[in-house]
Amino acid sequence: MSHVPARAPARSTSRARLRAVLVGAVAGAAALGVTVTMTPSASAATTLGASAAQSGRYFGTAVAAQRLNDSAYTTILNREFNQVTPENEMKIDATEPQQGVFRYGDAERIVQHARSRGMKVRGHTLAWHSQQPEWMRNMSGTALRNAMLNHVTQVARHFRGQVEWWDVVNEAFADGPSGARRDSNLQRTGNDWIEAAFRAADAADPDAQLCYNDYNIDNWNDAKTQAVYRMVQDFRSRGVPIDCVGLQSHFTGGSNYPSNYRTTLSSFAALGVDVHITELDIRNAPADAYRNVVNDCLAVPRCKGITVWGIRDSDSWRSGESPLLFDGSGNKKAAYQAVLAALNNGGPTTPPTTPPTTPPSTPPSTPPSSPPPGNARCTASVSVDSWTGGFVATVRVTAGSTAITGWNVGLALPAGTGVTNTWNAQHSGTSGAATFRNVSYNGNLGAGASTSFGFQGTGAPPSATPSCTAN
Ligand code: G3I
Repeated sequence: MSHVPARAPARSTSRARLRAVLVGAVAGAAALGVTVTMTPSASAATTLGASAAQSGRYFGTAVAAQRLNDSAYTTILNREFNQVTPENEMKIDATEPQQGVFRYGDAERIVQHARSRGMKVRGHTLAWHSQQPEWMRNMSGTALRNAMLNHVTQVARHFRGQVEWWDVVNEAFADGPSGARRDSNLQRTGNDWIEAAFRAADAADPDAQLCYNDYNIDNWNDAKTQAVYRMVQDFRSRGVPIDCVGLQSHFTGGSNYPSNYRTTLSSFAALGVDVHITELDIRNAPADAYRNVVNDCLAVPRCKGITVWGIRDSDSWRSGESPLLFDGSGNKKAAYQAVLAALNNGGPTTPPTTPPTTPPSTPPSTPPSSPPPGNARCTASVSVDSWTGGFVATVRVTAGSTAITGWNVGLALPAGTGVTNTWNAQHSGTSGAATFRNVSYNGNLGAGASTSFGFQGTGAPPSATPSCTAN
C-alpha cells in the first residue's frame, strides 16, 4: 500500500458527521414525540429508544424483513427502538446473489420502515468471510479482491445518505490465543484487504461512519481483542478511514459478560474511534448482566449506542437460550426493566467536546516544494491502495480560500494503467492521463471545504500529484 501523498488523517468529514449524529439522535426522539430532557431523573422515559436518546445515544435491534408482516413484532419495534440493523438482508449473498446483479428489495424494505419512523440504520455488512454467494466463495486472488471492492463500492453507494454506520468488515480475526487474522478467501488476497475495503467504503459514502465489527472482542485480556485494538491503532496512525469499532457482544454459547468490559470500551475509544455494542444478547437474559452492559456504555462518552440481536426470544438466532428483552409473547422481561432503569438513571453523558484522547498521527508527507498544480483555487491529493494488477484510488479535492462551483482533477497514469470504475466524479481521458470532473452534487465547495471521489483501476497505481482546476 502506498500514499501519494498521504490523505488527511482518518475521515476529516466524520467529525462534523459525529456532531450531526448526536443532534440527530435527539431530533429523532423529538420527531417521535418524546420529550428530551437532560435531567432524566425529573422525567424518566418509558421506552428504550427514548431513554437512550436522553444521553444522545440510540437503542436498536436487528430486524428481519420477513417479520415486518407480523404486527406484534412491529408494534414493539416501532414503540421501543430508534435504530435498526438488517439481520441478514444487507449481507453479500442477499445483495449480490450473482456477480454484478444487485438485489436490494428486502434491505430497502427495512431501511424504509426505519427511516420513515426516525430510526437510524446500521448497515451490516460489506465484507465478510461468511454468507458469501457461491460465485464469490469460488473466487480467489485479484479477481476476488476486485469483486469485493466492487461490492463494497456498489452497496455503500446505493445506500448513501440512508445508512448512518457501516460494518465495513466483519469478523476478520481468529478466535483463540493466536491474535492472527482469520484464514479466509478474502484474507488470502493479501493482508491489506481490510484497509482496502475501508478506503472503498469511504470513497463510496464519505459521510457514513465506518466500523470494524467482531465478536469475542469484549474481554480486554483476550488475544483477539488485543489484535483488533492493534489493527485500529495502526489504521488511525496511518490515516486509514475508520470511525468506529462494533463489539457484537454475543454473550451466548460459551461466552460471558467480562468484568473488564468497560476497560475494553474505553480503550478502543481512546484510539479516537466511537464504540458501538452491535449484536447484544445474553444467555437467559440475566437482569444484572444487561444492566452492567448499559452502565458500561453510559460510562464511556464514545459508546454511541446498543443494538440487541432481535426483539423477542422467538426472534433470536439462539432462541433456545432466551437471550433477549421480550419473551416469545412480546412481554417485557426483567432484563428489559433493568435496561430501561439503567438508561434512565445513567444520566446524560456530556458529548465529547475535545479531540480524541489519542489524536491520529499525521501520515508521513513531504511538504510541496512548489505550488500545487492547477489554478490554485483548489488542491487535490490522492491515496492509493494497490495490489498486484490493480488498485483503488481515493482523491480528496479541497477548495482554496474562496468558494468554488466546480472542479477538474487531472492525473497522470502509468503506461498500461486503465480506469475501470469511478464514483462521485465523471471520468474522461486517454491512456496516460485521466481527468475527473465533479458531478451534480459535489461541485460546490465552500472556502476550505473538501469532497472526495474514487476510482478503481487495473495496472500500476498513479504516483504523480494530481492537478486541480476550479470553476
Ligand atoms: O431464509 C432461509 C429459509 O428460507 C430456509 O428454509 C432456511 C433453511 O436453513 O434458511 C433460512 O435462512 C437462514 C437465515 O439465517 C434466515 O433465518 C440461514 O440458513 C441462516 O444461516 C441465517 O443465519 C443468520 C446467521 O447470521 C448467518 O451467519 C442469522 O439469522 C443471523 O442472526 C446471524 O447473524 C450473525 C451476524 O450477522 C454476525 N455476527 C454473528 C451473528 C449471529 O450468528
